[in-house]
Amino acid sequence: MKLLNLLILSLNALPALALKWPAKPLRHDVVVERRSTGQQFKTPEIRDRASRFLTDKTEKFAVNGSGIPEVDFDIGESYAGLLPISDDPEESRKLFFWFFPSTAETTPEEVTIWLNGGPGCSSLSGLLTENGPFTWEAGTLSPVQNPYSWTNLTNMLWVEQPVGVGYSQGVPNITNEVELAAEFRGFYKSFVDTFDTKNWKTYVTGESYAGYYVPYIADGFISANDTEYFNLAGISINDPIIGDDTVQQQVVILPFVEFWQNLMYLNQTFLTDVRELQAACNYSAYLDKYFTFPPPQGPFPVLPDPYDTDDYACDLFDIFYAAILEVNPCFNIYHITETCPHPYSQLGIVNTGDYSPPGSTIYFNRTDVKKALHAPLDSNWLQCTDINVFGNGNSSSRASDASVGPANSGVLQRVIEFTNNTIIGSGDLDMLLSTNGTLFAIQNMTWNGAQGLSNYPVTPLYAPYHPEYNGGALAGAGIQGVWTHERGLTFYTARLAGHELPGYTPGVAYRMLEILLGKVDDFSSIQSFTTQKGNFTG
Ligand SMILES: *[C@@H]1O[C@H](CO)[C@@H](O)[C@H](O)[C@H]1NC(C)=O
Ligand SMILES: *[C@@H]1O[C@H](CO)[C@@H](O)[C@H](O)[C@H]1NC(C)=O
Ligand SMILES: *[C@@H]1O[C@H](CO)[C@@H](O)[C@H](O)[C@H]1NC(C)=O
Ligand SMILES: *[C@@H]1O[C@H](CO)[C@@H](O)[C@H](O)[C@H]1NC(C)=O
Ligand SMILES: *[C@@H]1O[C@H](CO)[C@@H](O)[C@H](O)[C@H]1NC(C)=O
Ligand SMILES: *[C@@H]1O[C@H](CO)[C@@H](O)[C@H](O)[C@H]1NC(C)=O
Ligand SMILES: *[C@@H]1O[C@H](CO)[C@@H](O)[C@H](O)[C@H]1NC(C)=O
Ligand SMILES: *[C@@H]1O[C@H](CO)[C@@H](O)[C@H](O)[C@H]1NC(C)=O
Ligand SMILES: *[C@@H]1O[C@H](CO)[C@@H](O)[C@H](O)[C@H]1NC(C)=O
Ligand SMILES: *[C@@H]1O[C@H](CO)[C@@H](O)[C@H](O)[C@H]1NC(C)=O
Ligand SMILES: *[C@@H]1O[C@H](CO)[C@@H](O)[C@H](O)[C@H]1NC(C)=O
Repeated sequence: MKLLNLLILSLNALPALALKWPAKPLRHDVVVERRSTGQQFKTPEIRDRASRFLTDKTEKFAVNGSGIPEVDFDIGESYAGLLPISDDPEESRKLFFWFFPSTAETTPEEVTIWLNGGPGCSSLSGLLTENGPFTWEAGTLSPVQNPYSWTNLTNMLWVEQPVGVGYSQGVPNITNEVELAAEFRGFYKSFVDTFDTKNWKTYVTGESYAGYYVPYIADGFISANDTEYFNLAGISINDPIIGDDTVQQQVVILPFVEFWQNLMYLNQTFLTDVRELQAACNYSAYLDKYFTFPPPQGPFPVLPDPYDTDDYACDLFDIFYAAILEVNPCFNIYHITETCPHPYSQLGIVNTGDYSPPGSTIYFNRTDVKKALHAPLDSNWLQCTDINVFGNGNSSSRASDASVGPANSGVLQRVIEFTNNTIIGSGDLDMLLSTNGTLFAIQNMTWNGAQGLSNYPVTPLYAPYHPEYNGGALAGAGIQGVWTHERGLTFYTARLAGHELPGYTPGVAYRMLEILLGKVDDFSSIQSFTTQKGNFTG
């Protein structure tokens, strides 16, 4: 009876949880000065260099680097605006992009694309709170320079996609990930033609639901068989949904919560009840049998999806979420160490339960920001759109895409084998898509002649030390996680990262990009960041 009450309570409290996979605003709440190393904060030199991409074709996209609202420094050369998804002059569907040339002295002919998830969430949230040249984290007063901007390393392209997201224009009518990839290709062709980047290597990176986007877009590049426009060189995804969501979320959630119980403080009666459910739903047996390294050979059977049942009795994920929220009402499913209060984010509300103070604004919905970025002034910018970006099709805001299947059912395999340069990461403090859930999805995948990883990752991952110039954007250094590499796939964890890994552990993400771009061998390397002249140690 007690259990029944609990289930009903969970259901009522959880109308749409676990349905969105957004890049949620970060919630750093303190600005700590770096004391231990005695290094000084200093402003980076702003180099005066000739524009690299300014041409007749790109001029209308040029952004005034010292004219970004609230940003009191020059963000350098960049280009923003809308580009059509086809070369039809009547094309009404256009994606919004913000392109930053690399600030390095020399950069190979390459572009790295960053995509946030959702489906339906804007990649500008990643720019503003994860890996962009300036960041404005939740709970902080104003934007700051990001010492770990990915633009230090390569030419970076943030894209709001698919049609329906952010400032992008047009009516969504794609119905699945394959059509999404075709749409993206159309946009990227426009980009290549506008910025004269034919034959340039392209890396596709992203997070969360981009666990669908990135592999499908990369596979779309491969199948286009046209390296002039779609020259795929590698991919990276962190905290991705790449497999069956029952396996990735439900089966692993009890062990996850037990692991973190000293942070969750759930009561024993409740835990006993859920342990019984874990067995009754067959999750215990499934874990024991299939979560092994190496995995048992052959495809893992599909468990019933608890969302497809009437009683939701095996929806342990939401049962836990509801219980955790009772103990810690400001619990952040994307970064489990947070407690009250909710800090104010410039990106607006994503989930029910987020807090938006009276009088608050959404940065990218401000008219002055739209003007600065050549964005449509009448657009209603939301961090995650409230419309279904898959039009009237079968794909919905549910994680699984029944019409084409999750990435681990074939598409990711092709992408790994094509470049042998795929990196999958996971923040250990992410409950929405946990490290073991992602590993579980990998164990059911076959690539380069074998299934899964043969060993659970244990090799220490090292992030270099770095002299900060900005106490408002710090990054941990030293041993920060573990990693492994097998047959063209690298997997890594960041211990203190939540879902938005590059925002929480910028040093780890920066090192990841160095590896993806082929500048550093692997995560065991203790060499300095390639952009540093000296050697810094802790
Ligand atoms: C860029 O913006 C700054 C600040 O608003 C302004 O002073 C400057 O004239 C602008 N530059 C150009 C080229 O428009
Ligand atoms: C979406 O609409 C465009 C323009 O009407 C059309 O060309 C295209 O085939 C449609 N796409 C799908 C997937 O229905
Ligand atoms: C890819 O393009 C090359 C050269 O254009 C051609 O020889 C080859 O058959 C194409 N492959 C596929 C799968 O279309
Ligand atoms: C993840 O799986 C490993 C290997 O089975 C286990 O030791 C660890 O406790 C698990 N972590 C969590 C958070 O569930
Ligand atoms: C668990 O597995 C047993 C035996 O395979 C099966 O009869 C039962 O229906 C399963 N229970 C659930 C909730 O799927
Ligand atoms: C134990 O936790 C459950 C789930 O949150 C809750 O319904 C129940 O009231 C709690 N029991 C006590 C004694 O707090
Ligand atoms: C965003 O801006 C649009 C256009 O100015 C406006 O209609 C809309 O109400 C704004 N949305 C929010 C949440 O402020
Ligand atoms: C949705 O899926 C069903 C069953 O697979 C199919 O018959 C239908 O055509 C699909 N609808 C769209 C819009 O793709
Ligand atoms: C495991 O992979 C196979 C082959 O792609 C797929 O058919 C099956 O649904 C997957 N099982 C799970 C639980 O994801
Ligand atoms: C990828 O690595 C595998 C070994 O794991 C090798 O057999 C294959 O030829 C490589 N493919 C490419 C495209 O380098
Ligand atoms: C990124 O570039 C800035 C400006 O040159 C530099 O100060 C900073 O140290 C670089 N970051 C890293 C991690 O190398």
